[in-house]
Amino acid sequence: MHAAARHNRAPIRHREPYGHADKGQPLNEQRLSERLERVAAHVPAGARLADIGSDHGYLLVALMNRGLISAGVAGEVAVTPFQAAQRSVRENGLSERISVRLANGLAAIEPADAITAISLCGMGGETIRDILDSDKAHLSGSERLILQPNGGEQPLRQWLMEHDYRILAEEVLRENRFDYEIIIAERSGPVPYTDQELYFGPLLLQERSEAFLTKWQRRLRLKQRTLSHLTQARQAVPEEKLHALKQQISWITGLLAQASS
Ligand SMILES: C[S@@+](CC[C@H](N)C(=O)[O-])C[C@H]1O[C@@H](n2cnc3c(N)ncnc32)[C@H](O)[C@@H]1O
Repeated sequence: MHAAARHNRAPIRHREPYGHADKGQPLNEQRLSERLERVAAHVPAGARLADIGSDHGYLLVALMNRGLISAGVAGEVAVTPFQAAQRSVRENGLSERISVRLANGLAAIEPADAITAISLCGMGGETIRDILDSDKAHLSGSERLILQPNGGEQPLRQWLMEHDYRILAEEVLRENRFDYEIIIAERSGPVPYTDQELYFGPLLLQERSEAFLTKWQRRLRLKQRTLSHLTQARQAVPEEKLHALKQQISWITGLLAQASS
């Protein structure tokens, strides 16, 4: 099995009820979660969109029903969500306009699809990075990437930088007690980002929105608790791990101190 697919089998740190909104109303192709609505807002009008890891296919079906995309490819590595996407597309009468493919990562994309945007959402940042990295041959380089990692944003941004992608937009949003980030990128030539920009997000760091600062206040508390457990641990903790954690705590403390001054 592909490493990325294997990695994604176990839920990451998120336990978002992907199928249900807060108030118990079902989410579907008519009623997307706020997270997917924000992702949808970054899809260029008229795009030919490949949604990799589409699960139920709600994003593509919603965008097509709203007349916002001109063609869609739903890629799924697992049979049950693949069948769910097939059903959503069929029941919405969109089989001619959205192709549903059982495939690993970007292998779902064929040259004839002439894809102009790719979304990879609701997976760990490392999984998204691994999918992009192992399937680089399927990228033309002119597609917009619309990424919504569940954690692991830093390694994903690192990959984007190393492959000449510029981050065009970033968002933080909170839904069902989870903080989500959305990263939009296009290949444009070398863009050097600093370590802190890769960690916090270059545009999020500039903007310092309320949602962003609140997210990092919560993260700081968690990291301080982890550091205190590690320093009291009976077993030796690798020095590098402690160093990285202390570095992050120092960055977050600095960020929050600047914001409150
Ligand atoms: C948690 S769901 C997210 C679904 C949807 N994208 C969303 O954001 O609501 C992740 C989906 O990605 C699929 N997936 C994981 N690795 C994949 C890969 N390498 N190629 C295609 N799909 C993958 C999983 O089977 C699962 O259905």
